Amino acid sequence: SAVFRFDPDEGTLHEIASHGPSAFVIRGIVLKVGDGIVGRAVADRKVLVTADVLRELRVHYRPEQRAALAAHGIGAMIGIPLFAHERIIGALAVGDRVGREFSAEELQAVQAFADQTALALENARLYATAQDSLTRLRDTQAQLVQAAKMSALGQLVSGVAHELNNPLSVIIGYGQLLLSRDVPESMRRPVELMVAQGDRMAKIVRNLLFFARQRPPERAAVNLQTVVEQTLALRVHQLTLSGITVETAFAPTLPEIIGDAQQLEQVFLNLLLNAEQAILEARPQGRIVVRTRVSDSGDFVYADVVDDGPGIAADALPRVFEPFFTTKMVGSGTGLGLSVSYGILEEHGGRLTVQSRRGETIFTVELPVSRAPEAAPRMAVMRAAPSGAGRVALVVEDEPSVVDLVVTLLKEHGWAVDVASGGRSGLERVASRPYDLIISDMRMADGDGAEFYTSVRQRAPALARRFVFITGDTANEEAWAFLEGAQVPVIEKPFQSAAFEDAVARVMQPDGPVRP
Ligand SMILES: Nc1ncnc2c1ncn2[C@@H]1O[C@H](COP(=O)(O)OP(=O)(O)OP(=O)(O)O)[C@@H](O)[C@H]1O
Ligand SMILES: [Mg+2]
Repeated sequence: SAVFRFDPDEGTLHEIASHGPSAFVIRGIVLKVGDGIVGRAVADRKVLVTADVLRELRVHYRPEQRAALAAHGIGAMIGIPLFAHERIIGALAVGDRVGREFSAEELQAVQAFADQTALALENARLYATAQDSLTRLRDTQAQLVQAAKMSALGQLVSGVAHELNNPLSVIIGYGQLLLSRDVPESMRRPVELMVAQGDRMAKIVRNLLFFARQRPPERAAVNLQTVVEQTLALRVHQLTLSGITVETAFAPTLPEIIGDAQQLEQVFLNLLLNAEQAILEARPQGRIVVRTRVSDSGDFVYADVVDDGPGIAADALPRVFEPFFTTKMVGSGTGLGLSVSYGILEEHGGRLTVQSRRGETIFTVELPVSRAPEAAPRMAVMRAAPSGAGRVALVVEDEPSVVDLVVTLLKEHGWAVDVASGGRSGLERVASRPYDLIISDMRMADGDGAEFYTSVRQRAPALARRFVFITGDTANEEAWAFLEGAQVPVIEKPFQSAAFEDAVARVMQPDGPVRP
């Protein structure tokens, strides 16, 4: 006897269980509908009973099956289709000696068994489908949780970065102000260190903001070679101490690309750190090769970071660019290095790819060559702020320490300064007296910067051209869209005093602001 499963797509019957002395004849067999007694029963959608199947004209067997049945003396057979909701889902076959007739009770018992079998098969199928749906549901749920986690993290980071940018503005701003004055020689170095460390914190905040989605990279002409060399210089000492030799194979010349040098340095730093960590995980020494090259067409530049560490396992390889994917111990890796790097390159119109096998891992950075020289150098010479003697500026900002810094910087250059704590009171000020310059924050409780600017432009278009925004809210895409559209100089907190002066100089040109 045997049970078959019906495959409606193929129109085939597959043996799934068989029992008895001649079971091996049918084990693993696949029958077409119409073949053998079960195939016939399924084709006719009804029970088929015979005392000698080999003489049955309606039933067709392949010669070897026929021979096997004859050899075992089997001829009496029952073929029963199995139904679930009117659909055929399988079939049952029962065989016995040639010439034997099945009694009515036997037929009844076999039919009852067939009904139970059909029920069991259908239940198994439903169970498998349910399992499948459950797995899919779990996957979707995991993705949702991950997405929610990322979005919560983004908000958290954006909030923290925003809070940090104000105090950092003050630390860096006053530090630089001190350095531009006559600081006692013994104080100079400590103040320089303060400013440098403040800058370092600002950089961390920027990276966090980058991750928290995001603003376009700065656009300046960059030589990838220089970026690679500068990053290597940061790590080469440590690498040597770790017993890792660094070899370079640089293209003789590399065409320039447009991008953000600091962000690209971050990419190479991540790749070098990963290479170093991978090597040292396996053994106490190794080799890193850094190569640069240009595509044959001259349209792309490439940089490879190659290490001879253990390589990336095949199942981990597709996941290394996922945020928070890490194989490192808790506390030693966050799994953000590659995903941030991937994001940075994407924003540059480039790519980050990986190839890995035992003993060699190659990360490749690909960047498009700049075709538009006019879009190039942004690192223009910073202009010094023009004298504010006889002029009045309005500072609209709700963070007292930042107000303090901006007022101090302006007064240094002879400006008279009024202060308002938000867009609404700012507008009252503008109505009450003429101003030569407005420095405004973006996000304020008492009327935000965008609204304030729009009202001023309606009331006094000339004054609207004398606007400078300072913002700590670089993760806010809406704010960026507004600033792009308004064509108003923006300085990001924490800012360098030189950048502040440059922005003031730009809007104070006789013909209004000059775009960088
Ligand atoms: N050169 C490499 N060789 C072998 N495995 C690597 C290499 N670079 C990355 N990986 C694998 O990819 C994972 C993700 O790397 P990624 O830089 O994103 O995170 P991380 O290094 O674990 O943590 P983080 O960079 O945030 O400190 C690593 O944990 C490691 O398993
Ligand atoms: Mg890393």
